[in-house]
Amino acid sequence: MLSRKLGIDLGTVNVTIAEREQILLHEPGVVAITIEEEKIVAVGQEAREMFGRTPETIEVMRPMRDGVIADYEVTEAMLRYFVDKVIGGFRLFKPVIMMTVPYGVTSVERRAVHEAAIQAGAREVHLIPEPLAAALGAGLPVDTPSGNLIVNIGGGTSEAAVVAMNGIVAAASERVGGVRLDEAIINYVRKKYNLIIGEMTAELAKINIGAAVDIGEELRMDIQGRDQVDGLPKMITLSTAEIVEAVAEPLSLIAGVVKRVLERTPPELSPDIIDRGMVLTGGTSLLRGIDQYLTRETNVPAFLADDPVGSTALGASRGLERLDVLRRSIPDL
Ligand SMILES: Nc1ncnc2c1ncn2[C@@H]1O[C@H](COP(=O)(O)OP(=O)(O)OP(=O)(O)O)[C@@H](O)[C@H]1O
Ligand SMILES: [Mg+2]
Repeated sequence: MLSRKLGIDLGTVNVTIAEREQILLHEPGVVAITIEEEKIVAVGQEAREMFGRTPETIEVMRPMRDGVIADYEVTEAMLRYFVDKVIGGFRLFKPVIMMTVPYGVTSVERRAVHEAAIQAGAREVHLIPEPLAAALGAGLPVDTPSGNLIVNIGGGTSEAAVVAMNGIVAAASERVGGVRLDEAIINYVRKKYNLIIGEMTAELAKINIGAAVDIGEELRMDIQGRDQVDGLPKMITLSTAEIVEAVAEPLSLIAGVVKRVLERTPPELSPDIIDRGMVLTGGTSLLRGIDQYLTRETNVPAFLADDPVGSTALGASRGLERLDVLRRSIPDL
């Protein structure tokens, strides 16, 4: 077996690649492309830095939306670029790749991910549901008969699943995640201050001073934008309490996903869940106080995974080491 084995999370916001126990790549899933000829100018971090700063002839876009491929050709090119980047130009043997796919996507959406990975140069492609990968990556004892509640809160999607005996026993998902929190901050600032701010600014405010609940500490940040009335640049100061208020609505949708999966959990597994609590993964699980928020909303204690952002790719990579066992519980692995 001379082929390299890669676990890949092709996310709405980030692409993460793991090999065995290591994260090899974690970059924004962003592509800069010429509008006329559709030629790729930059991919990943480099493309993201161009966001909102390009001439009219270049568009900076995310080919993934809500966890699924929105622009197939660009996704394929982006994936090929990232795989080449970690494997290097010299490629005697094609890699074996395990791709994560959000829970509950259609078979057409799954096939598109499979095909994109083949086109990106894979010899063999396997697909794993994202919550199962997250549970494997977070180190939960997924191969035992006891229930484990995993909650993966990403950029475009949130998923909650009860995992036992290498499979998903109950799950729920919703197309809501960090991007919706950013949009909620944009709307809040527009309504309260008549100020138009960009997506990057909103995300920065969320990360730097944001929280899901009152964290007993008031952080502040100066925000630049454009006045909605006179069109001139203006600066305001945002506080943690304002972000808490701004993101309340999308956060309640995320709590709703967890509540739905709790309702669907077989009664035999409920005591395990109450005992062990839920484990949080995904970039949005880094929002301050989201563990407290979910604990309060669901009455089940929430804990952050050791590497919340790397868990899904790491889990996909670990999944490649136990294909035989997983095959019994994942139909189209
Ligand atoms: N410290 C932080 N606090 C709050 N949010 C954060 C923090 N760091 C990253 N995020 C958010 O996490 C999100 C990205 O998470 P992640 O990389 O898990 O998403 P993804 O896998 O690309 O998306 P999906 O799984 O939904 O397809 C972004 O919306 C980003 O703003
Ligand atoms: Mg993800």
